[in-house]
Amino acid sequence: MEEHAEYKEAAAGPHFVGRKEDLIKDKRSFRTVEGRDILVLHHQGIFYALDFHCYHAGGPLQNGDIEEFGGKLCIVCPKHKYKICLADGEGLYKYKDPRAPEPTPRWLSKGIKQRVHTVTETDGDVYVTLSSFSHFIDSDYFQGEKGKIERERL
Ligand code: FES
Repeated sequence: MEEHAEYKEAAAGPHFVGRKEDLIKDKRSFRTVEGRDILVLHHQGIFYALDFHCYHAGGPLQNGDIEEFGGKLCIVCPKHKYKICLADGEGLYKYKDPRAPEPTPRWLSKGIKQRVHTVTETDGDVYVTLSSFSHFIDSDYFQGEKGKIERERL
């Protein structure tokens, strides 16, 4: 399969990923849904689901710290510390205007870099519906065969 092929939205879901109480206890859970590796995490009462492998170089996000940057809740990739917004997969970077007399750092967006998925709950069961956004998002690369080989070299 071509690595940059359009994202397949066929079996988007919802797919059962676990009982709510188990997922809360585990906080972060690795799941494979329709062949896609995802991270389901529970933080401050909210479930999130996003691609498991970081968009930068495929690092596993499971043990990333969760912090706020510019008012946005992000997971920090343990590999090279990239910041990824949990709500929408936006990548953030710190910017300082070098021409400013006293440069104040600000967090700016690189755009959507990590594919995020929708989490729903019914009667204590938790489901993930895969993202239906049909265009390539950087994290898609590390779900494909070439990305898998690259991940394993890291
Ligand atoms: Fe995640 Fe580099 S692999 S920051």
